[in-house]
Amino acid sequence: MENVKIIGCGYAKAEKKLFNTDLEKIVDTSDEWIVQRTGIHSRYITQTKNTSDLAFEAAKKAIKDAQIDVSLIDCILVATTTPDCITPSTACLVQEKLGLNGQECTSFDLNAACSGFVYGLSLASMMLETYSTILVIGAETLSKIIDWNDRNTCVLFGDGAGAALIQKSNQGRMVSFTKSTGDKDGFLMCKGLSLQEKEMSYLEMNGKEVFRFAIEAMPYSIEKVLEKANQKIEDIDLFIPHQANIRILKHVAKKMKIDFDRIFVNLDEFGNTSSASIAIALAQAKEQGKIKKGMKMVLTGFGAGFTSGAIYLEW
Ligand code: ACO
Repeated sequence: MENVKIIGCGYAKAEKKLFNTDLEKIVDTSDEWIVQRTGIHSRYITQTKNTSDLAFEAAKKAIKDAQIDVSLIDCILVATTTPDCITPSTACLVQEKLGLNGQECTSFDLNAACSGFVYGLSLASMMLETYSTILVIGAETLSKIIDWNDRNTCVLFGDGAGAALIQKSNQGRMVSFTKSTGDKDGFLMCKGLSLQEKEMSYLEMNGKEVFRFAIEAMPYSIEKVLEKANQKIEDIDLFIPHQANIRILKHVAKKMKIDFDRIFVNLDEFGNTSSASIAIALAQAKEQGKIKKGMKMVLTGFGAGFTSGAIYLEW
């Protein structure tokens, strides 16, 4: 369904802000290296909260922003790679925290790594044939699957959550494109719970290969979604991409001839929060007054799987 409107959004930060200089004390790295290679200056890490807590905080803000009664929500989708537990789903935990236990609500998680929020919105827009008000959340506590002795990964990631509420409406438009391919070489994975690994393991990444994938996948997704929506790149007022690395974004901007001031960036503050990244960026852009009625936007992500996708939005 294309007649879809985001009626509210919100985000939650984890409580501890970790600067690059803090990481210099843990691994052999430097603020200069991290800023130069990634654009990241800080990230937020939680030591007390679980994914469902951050998701709940973001959801409450989205509900407030939308000015609706919580009881209208009849479906909750949480995109995460770091759920509180294997079962129940983080979405069911959020449902309980929102006080929606006793009512008819369909809640479940999805895992599409850093494309999770894009996949969530895409799926939710189709589900609006059945449900009236869908809460889509991207939430992560990546700090629990990061090896804090591995400088290749620990400097990149952060915790957080973002949420959006969607409804059927003629006043908005949403078009989506998603794609996944296998990662047979295991360039980006967290093996925990495989038959061979009896204990939880850490996130492992071949940064160069992921970089290579990202600079192909993002332009491809943007082109595909614009083609579906019958729009041109120059029609887009604001791009909200997955926040992984400033060099990836600059590469994509150059390749697609997008002025960099049309790209929303907050990775300098948040680092890479995987499924939460686009959701946080969307809510923060709105909070900063960067999203106006009638604007045309593209959200785009890429992540482990490999997964990728884009959402075209008319606000
Ligand atoms: N501090 C200092 N030196 C470091 C660090 C660090 N934190 N990390 C790596 N290095 C070293 C390496 O050991 C290497 O040293 P060597 O030359 O002596 O072997 C050197 O720096 C260069 O390493 P590269 O891996 O070549 O550095 P590169 O320029 O490729 O940057 C980076 C690495 C930032 C990871 C980059 O490849 C990248 O951003 N890739 C994409 C990663 C990404 O987007 N991941 C998440 C996407 S999906 C998801 O979020 C789940």
